[in-house]
Amino acid sequence: MTNLSLTSAESASLDVDAVVIGVVSDDSGPVLAPGAAGVDQAFQGRLIDALSGLGAAGKAGEVTKVPTLGNLAAPLVVAVGLGESYDGEALRRAAGAALRSLAGSGSVAVLLPAATPDEVAAVATGALLGNYAYLNYRTGDGHKRPVEEITVVSEAVATGDARAALERAQTLADAVTLVRDLVNTPPSDLNPEALADAARQVGEESGLSVEVLDEKELVESGFGGIVGVGQGSVNPPRLVRLAYEHPEAAKTVAFVGKGITFDSGGLSLKPADSMDWMKSDMGGAAAVLGALKAIAALGPKVKAVGYLAIAENMPSGTAQRPSDVLTIYGGKTVEVLNTDAEGRLVMADAIVRAGEDEPDLIVDVATLTGAQLVALGTRTAGVMANDDDVREKVVDAAGRAGESAWPMPLPDDMRKNLDSAVADIANISGERWGGMLTAGIFLKEFVPEGVRWAHLDIAGPSFNQGQPYGYTPKGGTGAAVRTLVQVAEDVAAGAL
Ligand code: BES
Ligand code: MN
Ligand code: ZN
Repeated sequence: MTNLSLTSAESASLDVDAVVIGVVSDDSGPVLAPGAAGVDQAFQGRLIDALSGLGAAGKAGEVTKVPTLGNLAAPLVVAVGLGESYDGEALRRAAGAALRSLAGSGSVAVLLPAATPDEVAAVATGALLGNYAYLNYRTGDGHKRPVEEITVVSEAVATGDARAALERAQTLADAVTLVRDLVNTPPSDLNPEALADAARQVGEESGLSVEVLDEKELVESGFGGIVGVGQGSVNPPRLVRLAYEHPEAAKTVAFVGKGITFDSGGLSLKPADSMDWMKSDMGGAAAVLGALKAIAALGPKVKAVGYLAIAENMPSGTAQRPSDVLTIYGGKTVEVLNTDAEGRLVMADAIVRAGEDEPDLIVDVATLTGAQLVALGTRTAGVMANDDDVREKVVDAAGRAGESAWPMPLPDDMRKNLDSAVADIANISGERWGGMLTAGIFLKEFVPEGVRWAHLDIAGPSFNQGQPYGYTPKGGTGAAVRTLVQVAEDVAAGAL
């Protein structure tokens, strides 16, 4: 567990293993960012010369290390590039990159620009998130542990706002860390029951009300989507409901997350190279859990309910078949033409169920389609909605939360591609193109009449198969948590 603190102490006296400073890339060359002056003094004003000599240019993501040779109490300066000009996200990324490069150290002081509470929050969030490591399955001591003590250095410490900003950063980082851990857990150790148990435990610790439906209750209540997807696995499905309610709440927001603990494709089996990262197919459900945990800690004036639609999608003699017809909760029928389009089936059940809470807004989050990756790449979530205003505001909330999201349409004329020869709707389209939108159009059919709804497809952003960057590690990223928290706060403020 990392210890995070805030100080205004002089750089020279900081008794830490390393100090982190920022470098901005200016027209005239690299220049030191605010916060670095004390360190520069200890270098007789020649720190930028030393950094330039080592090739530092101030580019985003660049990390340059300089030994202090006794000029400071700390033995090492880590200079991190901020790019040409920096905003909150640039600060988060720089702090994250610096902390990643310092894994294995004991204590680090971060002297990046932190003059305002927003900057303090950005630096702290980036540092905490960049300091993540998943070591649960590592043996021996050959693996670098996260930094134990992070100190954010800021002139603004005297103001209570800076302390509150630090606390908020810790709360958000804790929620993101929970999601990353759950996504990274091997699917043999995070089957549907285990994910539901984790949700119950986190929910109870956070003071949320928790309800879990098991496979029998799911059958009895008519959750045909979750039951159908889960029936091929020896590990039966679950539906979790979490609820947070402020006593003065005027509005209700419902979050719905896709919780496929492993997506083999079912009888419509995936090829091996598409299957090897499908432990991450519960990233949406984990994000809903993480968001509810953070919301409970932050205490906005809102009612927030979260649904986790959990199943394992496996092929077997009991698995659903392509051409089977399911009855979704509430009565609509679906012809399952491809068992690998399973996410929309479990989500349909949970979206209909969420309608019973009479929410003012439903936001669902799902690693729903490979087509999302084709359209928007690995780092940008697709945002669809049944209301233009809601879509714009959710995209805006994501941006303010520091997450990349982009608006996508749900064209009415694509609905006919989901017509089924036998049921109310089919789960795949006869048309190959625009698969992310097709999935969104399918989900829209299950949104209760008159309820505003947005859908986040996070297939790419939830899991980083590439190299780490900024504050994003390899593997589970915790995508969408910060967006959902922002959405809940915007609903509380009457802005969404
Ligand atoms: N879980 C996958 C989507 C996915 C793909 C998530 C890649 C993360 C990375 C989803 O269940 C799926 O298999 N979707 C199919 C739908 C198709 C059969 C209509 C897809 O996108 O190929
Ligand atoms: Mn699938
Ligand atoms: Zn899936």
